Amino acid sequence: MDDTPPVCDYEGSDYRTRFWEGQGRSYEDQVERVALRRLMPPAGQTLIEIGAGFGRLADEYRGYRQVVLFDYSRSLLREAQAQLPQLAAPDTQFIFVAGNWYKMPFVAGLFDTMVQVRTLHHAADVPALMQQLARIARPGGRYVLEFANKQNLKAILRYSLRRQDWSPFAPEPVEFTALNFDFHPHWIRQQLQQAGFHPGRVLSVSHFRLGVLKKAVPNGWLVWADSLLQATGGWWQLTPSIFTASAHPEAGESARPGSFFACPECGTPLSHILPGPQNTRLTCSACELQWGVTDGLYDFKEPLK
Ligand SMILES: C[S@@+](CC[C@H](N)C(=O)[O-])C[C@H]1O[C@@H](n2cnc3c(N)ncnc32)[C@H](O)[C@@H]1O
Repeated sequence: MDDTPPVCDYEGSDYRTRFWEGQGRSYEDQVERVALRRLMPPAGQTLIEIGAGFGRLADEYRGYRQVVLFDYSRSLLREAQAQLPQLAAPDTQFIFVAGNWYKMPFVAGLFDTMVQVRTLHHAADVPALMQQLARIARPGGRYVLEFANKQNLKAILRYSLRRQDWSPFAPEPVEFTALNFDFHPHWIRQQLQQAGFHPGRVLSVSHFRLGVLKKAVPNGWLVWADSLLQATGGWWQLTPSIFTASAHPEAGESARPGSFFACPECGTPLSHILPGPQNTRLTCSACELQWGVTDGLYDFKEPLK
């Protein structure tokens, strides 16, 4: 029996146009970029964004040599690929990989920098996910994680007025609708430590995520004020969004040069040198499963028949 946790499936979703484009979220987008730039090393060899969706943040990664945009949704990754001409940077190779974050198709110790923004709320099994991330993290690197904070001011107010039955102060995650979780900052810190990461800086982000404010105050002012307040995350965390930067576990080895993908089912390294052909199949020498590459999209969601 397959005991992989359930996945929130965005295949075929209109996430980009329904949630972002023209939807009045320029404030959220900009303050998240400010936080990301503060926490992420600006340049390096290998970076992965876990749950990259349609590549909203991909232009932030142009200081890296190899950038993996990883997501469960092939259709969103195709949208990310369509942006490639605008993303193009002479020294950056973008690699589009479909797969499940509970079965990461990469060799151990591969990534200098790992970024995860607006996705942890879909993780039913955070320890299992972080275990995978600890495995593919290169010692000496950094993991920038954004998560939805259950201990935010609005939740505290609603709880005090008895409009909400779950406590924002209780450590365990709350699933407010199916496969959508809010997390307590202390609980996240614990999970990071248990997986071997060393949590460091914390930023509180999106202080002004309120429709009336966003209508009344120019966006630039709100972004400026949020940027000033983000550092208060080191003392208290009351905003809906929290960014953390953790040092990678020191244990483990860095990936050998030239090794990149591994079979998501059995973990055996796959012999494939990047950049490879646009259309091919990768065969696992141990379990013999085959994985497809179609028009530049590496697909590790399901093996080929
Ligand atoms: C709300 S979107 C955020 C996308 C992007 N990070 C952004 O901020 O624009 C959440 C993303 O997580 C991805 N996701 C959810 N569960 C996943 C899993 N098990 N493995 C890989 N990606 C997953 C979804 O496909 C979706 O693209």
